[in-house]
Amino acid sequence: MKENYSVIPLLLGKELSLSAKIFWGFIKMGKSWIFPKRNYRYNHLKNLCLVYFKLTPLCNLRCRMCGQWGDQGVMKNCDIREEAKKIVSLERYKELVDEIAPRRPVSYLWGGEPFLYPDLMPLAKYMLDKGLYVSVNTNGTLMEQNAEQIVHDQWSTIFVSLDAFQEINDAMRGKGAYERVVKGFAAINREKKKRNSNYPIMGIVTTVTNQNYLDLEHLAEATREFNLDIHIINLGTYTNDRIIAAQRRFMKEKLDTDIDCLAGYNTGYNHHIDGKRLQSILNNLHQKRYGHPILTVPALNPEKISTYYADLETPVRNHCIVPWCQTNINYNGDVHFCADYPDHILGNIKEQSFKEIYNGDRANRFRKTLHDCEGGMFPGCLRCYQNMLFGKRIRGY
Ligand SMILES: C[S@@+](CC[C@H](N)C(=O)[O-])C[C@H]1O[C@@H](n2cnc3c(N)ncnc32)[C@H](O)[C@@H]1O
Ligand code: SF4
Repeated sequence: MKENYSVIPLLLGKELSLSAKIFWGFIKMGKSWIFPKRNYRYNHLKNLCLVYFKLTPLCNLRCRMCGQWGDQGVMKNCDIREEAKKIVSLERYKELVDEIAPRRPVSYLWGGEPFLYPDLMPLAKYMLDKGLYVSVNTNGTLMEQNAEQIVHDQWSTIFVSLDAFQEINDAMRGKGAYERVVKGFAAINREKKKRNSNYPIMGIVTTVTNQNYLDLEHLAEATREFNLDIHIINLGTYTNDRIIAAQRRFMKEKLDTDIDCLAGYNTGYNHHIDGKRLQSILNNLHQKRYGHPILTVPALNPEKISTYYADLETPVRNHCIVPWCQTNINYNGDVHFCADYPDHILGNIKEQSFKEIYNGDRANRFRKTLHDCEGGMFPGCLRCYQNMLFGKRIRGY
């Protein structure tokens, strides 16, 4: 979708300092792409450009397609009270921020629901004070009561998940979710106006499923009143039994790791999506002007949208570069490369410095195993969100 590239000048025009930070991130990512460091004594921290902080396992919604708390979600079977006790303290996060801040990575705060991490506000403030770009991904239901502080502290971006107009959104995400997001955006807009501020840059993220894809234009019309800066349409993370079995065998054999998380995305919400209809809906969305850019992730050749949903075993991106420039810190302090599949643990920040973990033997073994795979990806990475964003486009897709 060529339209995705056309948003670059729009974003640049909107916020120069923010664009500069994003641009710097792309340079570092490009370095990992063009000159991937296969020397495993290399200090990989040099290319760190994005750190995901999954702050809490808790969530106040139960979105049906969610790999954590949805129909097949992996968190549904755990003792959540015990898990919630394991969260990383604000003090430890601050030390970590001090360690990574000189590299200026983008920090991406998510969860569970990040507003349920008790120290979200002071943590975000600390990161901003240290010069990090702070982006928060939230379901938006707790945004209204925090709007004043968010604008006061000048969060860089806030991405709110909204999947359709009210009725269909709430059928997927829970009753009242839509209305609370509308109120949240209104509160942020009021505060921004009061302070004459551009921050936070505001976006929505829509995950495409067979429940909402026919409603995307309806949602886009409704967003006109939100004063958005960007709308990201995420084609969604899907998998099937065969891919899970192949990944399970592979991870056991090569990395001695048992996997659970991929199965959370075996939801079936990809079934019966009519690729031609979705293609025409996306075309309309990209052609109309809503006052903000709309981006589809991954940016696919429109002819291949049916393949994306119907033929999950056909790769559309490969040669994932995530382990060479990104990481995810889980709510309990475990460090992983793959944000959605926290099975292979590289170490824990409660016990080690981040540098030790990121340049350690387990991290390097993971990098080497990935690099040695055909196409530079594991069998389970076929529709992984990070691979869709940061993998290499396969010819024709
Ligand atoms: C897991 S949520 C965590 C943050 C927060 N609770 C929220 O809903 O925004 C992160 C993002 O993943 C999206 N998501 C949920 N299920 C998904 C799926 N099956 N495939 C791709 N993205 C999904 C959510 O809609 C949200 O935008
Ligand atoms: S709000 Fe986010 S984490 Fe919670 S169930 Fe929905 S998608 Fe999952």
